[in-house]
Amino acid sequence: MDQSNQQRWARPSFPVLIGAVALSLFAAYGFIHSNRPPHHGYAPGQHVVSAPSAHYSGGFQPAPLPTVLDAQDSLTEALKKAGVVVDEGNSMQVMEQTMYYALVAQQEWIKTICETGFNGGHSSVTWLSSSWDATLFSFDLPHADYGPPARAHVNRTFPGRFYITDGDSTVTLPRFREANPNLHCDVIHVDGGHSYEVAIADLRNFYHMASPRRHIVLMDDLRCKGGYCVEPMRAWDQAVAEGWLNQRACYTKSDGWRGWCAGEYVLKVE
Ligand SMILES: C[S@@+](CC[C@H](N)C(=O)[O-])C[C@H]1O[C@@H](n2cnc3c(N)ncnc32)[C@H](O)[C@@H]1O
Repeated sequence: MDQSNQQRWARPSFPVLIGAVALSLFAAYGFIHSNRPPHHGYAPGQHVVSAPSAHYSGGFQPAPLPTVLDAQDSLTEALKKAGVVVDEGNSMQVMEQTMYYALVAQQEWIKTICETGFNGGHSSVTWLSSSWDATLFSFDLPHADYGPPARAHVNRTFPGRFYITDGDSTVTLPRFREANPNLHCDVIHVDGGHSYEVAIADLRNFYHMASPRRHIVLMDDLRCKGGYCVEPMRAWDQAVAEGWLNQRACYTKSDGWRGWCAGEYVLKVE
């Protein structure tokens, strides 16, 4: 080989260098992707929060969390399969409200959630799918054919985390408290009977069940213009005016038809 040929092999030209680098990158990309664990176990189209894969090395990738939206979809599917239709208002109809409730339930310190008004299970599913380990105690007056399949679905989906007491909450709440004096609610959601009498009784009864360390009271159908908002609002405003409930914030949907408030009880130091 003469001198000029030796130099050509020793120093590849610029286009050859670029080609070699591109080829190696292409091969590395193919290798990495063929060795990746499956992305997730959920069907395409499901709402998932993807795992932070970029920060994981060593072959382990945590399963992505099904979001509250997956849980709502699967409740809808179960009710459809059972051939029933929910015809009463529920929190799933208002995305902002579902997200607000989900953010509340996601807080680490929330372990016990109590609510009046199960209806078709939409708010129950929001609570339970937004927390790994919180337990829900629901109180409801069964009135519709979708009640039993909704209860069965929530029970099956969140085993050991869902307890429901059927009957008029003005009667069942005081009984429940008497039977479970050590049970304290971290979240209280008032969304049962919408008459003034039931709404104020629920607020009063839950007062004695609120976690003394820290709790949040939420009430649906406040600060809105529907007829269904009038009496709950009267009850909430009375509790605030009498000084045993502290209102923190209220939210009204832009069309004015839906709204809810958050606050906490002013508990007496014993
Ligand atoms: C507006 S719905 C609840 C909606 C549910 N929280 C959601 O967001 O999906 C009201 C529910 O309260 C129940 N209810 C009405 N009066 C009640 C009472 N006195 N005691 C307990 N539940 C009652 C109704 O049967 C109905 O299921």
